[in-house]
Amino acid sequence: MYILIINGPNLNMLGIREPGIYGNSTYADLCKMIEEHAKEKCVEVKLFQSNHEGAIVDEIQAAYGKADGIVINPAAYTHTSVAILDALKSVAIPAVEIHISDVSAREEFRHISYAGMACEKAFIGLGFEGYLKGIDYLVEKYG
Ligand code: DQA
Repeated sequence: MYILIINGPNLNMLGIREPGIYGNSTYADLCKMIEEHAKEKCVEVKLFQSNHEGAIVDEIQAAYGKADGIVINPAAYTHTSVAILDALKSVAIPAVEIHISDVSAREEFRHISYAGMACEKAFIGLGFEGYLKGIDYLVEKYG
């Protein structure tokens, strides 16, 4: 099984950005945690992070016919990007939405998720653990 893990803008700044919200662990720590978990589950993963909406759309399109699942934290683009929503719908690869923080308990503009409309499951406010739960969900359902 091959799962594409996508992280959107500013998630490369984990460990530096707003530690009170996102914690002290870095993006490299997150990648290591995901890679170790994937190995345990015998899943192949690709880790992709970009600060650019079009690059994320390109990556989703490139996964067509290749990835069995997508775990995506579109970060700020969650709340703005119809392009990412349309890309996820275009490829129709089973997708899971992740948010490190509990977006429902934050500012109102974070309550809407466009990407989430193309995701069949969401793990929100569970910190880095959410990514692992996203992988497990896809493995259990499609692995
Ligand atoms: C986030 C929540 C978003 O609202 C925010 O813009 C992010 C990170 C999260 O993982 O909690 O950059 O997606």
